[in-house]
Amino acid sequence: MALREVRVAGDPILTKLCRPLKEMTERMSVLIDDMFETMYDQEGVGLAAPQVGVLRRLFVIDVPDEDEDGNEIDEKHPIVFINPEILETRGEKTLAEGCLSIPNKVANVTRPEWVKIKAYDRDMQEFVMEADDMLARTILHEYDHLEGHIYSEMAEGPMWDIEDVEEDGDTGKVRLKTAKGPGRKSNRKKHRRRRL
Ligand code: NI
Repeated sequence: MALREVRVAGDPILTKLCRPLKEMTERMSVLIDDMFETMYDQEGVGLAAPQVGVLRRLFVIDVPDEDEDGNEIDEKHPIVFINPEILETRGEKTLAEGCLSIPNKVANVTRPEWVKIKAYDRDMQEFVMEADDMLARTILHEYDHLEGHIYSEMAEGPMWDIEDVEEDGDTGKVRLKTAKGPGRKSNRKKHRRRRL
């Protein structure tokens, strides 16, 4: 396995439509392994093939579970999506999002809060998955990459530097940090990985 270079916004490859995979090849299998390695290395929760310069309809995710206090549970559940097709979406939710292709930035984005998706796994077996919350958001964000879209196109308000913002523990949105008085208690959740 090897780390791949992650393309950053401004690279025209991130604006192109990706083509479907006809079959699993050794080359694609290596690509999937490399994408997971690259995603974990950069502490992301999702990575799409065009982000490593490959215009194929393929993305990988591993969204951590959280315990009751909102801390990430250190347990891997990698999922590969090949030739994904969004079957249905429901609801709407605004949450903080980031992207490995826009380093150190974050913004609020509104997306459906539930998704039903069909895709193929790395054995090219079809599966259907229903997802909500951060898992749904990650799936929809990565799917957009395959269509040549990046989340900054739909960001609400400015793209903020990650050091300048704080997350609202109740809503999951980000806002600019306010000056905190000494001793003021914070009820914010632990900073979550949200680089997609
Ligand atoms: Ni992304």
